[in-house]
Amino acid sequence: MNNNANVKIYEYDAVIVGSGLAGLAAAKELTEAGKKTAVITKLHPLRSHSGAAQGGINAAIGGEDSTELHEFDTVKGSDYLADQDCVELMCTKAPETIRWAERMGAVFSRNEEGNIAVRPFGGQSQPRACYAKDRTGLTLLQTIYEQADRAGIEVYDEWYASDIIYEDGKVSGVVAYNIKDSQVAIFNTKVTMFATGGNGRLFRFNSNAHANTGDALSIVARRGLPLEDMEFVQFHPSGLGGSGVLISEAARGEGGRLFNSEGERFMEKYAPNAMELASRDVVSRAIMEEVRQGRGVGKDGQSVNLDLTHLDPNIILTRLPELRELAIAFQGQDMLNEAIHISATAHYSMGGIPTNIDTQVQKNAAGDLVEGFYAAGECACVSVHGANRLGANSVLEAMLFGRHAGEKMIAALDDGITFRKASLSDADRCIDEMTTITTSNGNETVPKLRTELQVGMTANAGVFRTKESLEKQLALIDDVLARFKHIRIDDKSKVFNTDLQEAIELGHMIESAKIVVVGALRREESRGGHYREDFTTRNDEKFMVHTYATMDKDYNIDIQWGTVMQGKFEPMERKY
Ligand code: FUM
Repeated sequence: MNNNANVKIYEYDAVIVGSGLAGLAAAKELTEAGKKTAVITKLHPLRSHSGAAQGGINAAIGGEDSTELHEFDTVKGSDYLADQDCVELMCTKAPETIRWAERMGAVFSRNEEGNIAVRPFGGQSQPRACYAKDRTGLTLLQTIYEQADRAGIEVYDEWYASDIIYEDGKVSGVVAYNIKDSQVAIFNTKVTMFATGGNGRLFRFNSNAHANTGDALSIVARRGLPLEDMEFVQFHPSGLGGSGVLISEAARGEGGRLFNSEGERFMEKYAPNAMELASRDVVSRAIMEEVRQGRGVGKDGQSVNLDLTHLDPNIILTRLPELRELAIAFQGQDMLNEAIHISATAHYSMGGIPTNIDTQVQKNAAGDLVEGFYAAGECACVSVHGANRLGANSVLEAMLFGRHAGEKMIAALDDGITFRKASLSDADRCIDEMTTITTSNGNETVPKLRTELQVGMTANAGVFRTKESLEKQLALIDDVLARFKHIRIDDKSKVFNTDLQEAIELGHMIESAKIVVVGALRREESRGGHYREDFTTRNDEKFMVHTYATMDKDYNIDIQWGTVMQGKFEPMERKY
């Protein structure tokens, strides 16, 4: 039986879950417009994963560049699955977004003329990634946090959002608990936004923070709402061998070269024109193919060499100082003097909570909208990345669509929007989940189940996929799901109960893994980051569609297909 007598109810105009670039951009706009806004984060804002983005933020501000080229590269990079109206909005507004960040105080690296410097990134026909050394995300996060703080945002940090208040196609806030003392509270609001980042921790070998467990995705799915294009997972070509820690594409953008154990610069075989700067899916597959063929390096032969020793050391020292530090700290390899070992690492979810161009959440493949509900950043699928995201487009997307969401929520609030008054029973699902986990007395442990899930995802639903590998992973997920009911956590307390939090997160991970795998099974083609060895080509006739996956209460997944917004760029074969 629920004990909701101690639940607090807070009323706000807006609640935003997640405090990375997307969430803070929206919160800043709302607060400056005088809207009472709460930001809920399970971390502190400055520990949000946006801060881990290293290499840059795209905007066509260089001499030979144009927004149309940026659009073309993005659509081509997406393997033609991106919605072209959204891509156009993003690329057109990108230069203004850089100016916005600069006016807020972000210090970008400069070229010799004193203008904002741009560096080449994969899949881009022009140098386009504006950067702050190799700490671009951190620079932007600190800047936007300062400004949001100055505007007076109210942050509930170390609070865990557990559920949405959802009824009759309308969201009226969220339910969350305070990690510090397990106090449950309802945030009853007129508009709600999710900006919680991705689910990269589904994979054993990944570049993501521990917090990236994709909670928002299954919170939404548990309410019968769809997730879009979840089978499209990006594997970044350069994670440090062994740990998966990100070594920015900037290393290749500044001239880094890839070699196999035989000293071959193998990208010549896979992408003779773009070489190391082909799109991420292409380079990741090339690396994994070399490893599979026995031409890997490192003690387990699972990596390849990334070599920057031919560069002027000043380039490394002034533009890539953090990358150098990371390789020294994690691998004892100094890129000034030797090649470092890297391998493809799970990095980014192209899919997420479906939204229209104005960041409003959709409730089905036909595009009907959930009232009062918005999403932006990696947890959302607006869809500007389609089947494969270009490097440095995610920071842009988060800032730009986060701000856009803020503006749209302000407009909705100004138009007048009613919301359902919350009742204490809205907290029941959250309390039930906490109680079930803390009282469960089985013999399974969270770390064991999580490791099995992650190892299986990397092996069976990673860079290369087949019907057999995906079916194997589906069976593994169902097994983990069944055993999850029999977990036991040791900490039963209410204070900073990280055992409880990790168990809740594992529940979310299992569910979003299932949605990834079922989507991957159903999509019998290869497109962007989704590569099926049993269907090696893109099939536009059948699969030029978005995937909309819903989950019922017994965790059965249903797949519907939705229309891809075409535009001025006709689909063609993608070559680099
Ligand atoms: O390689 C990087 O710097 C990562 C950037 C991104 O994922 O956009």
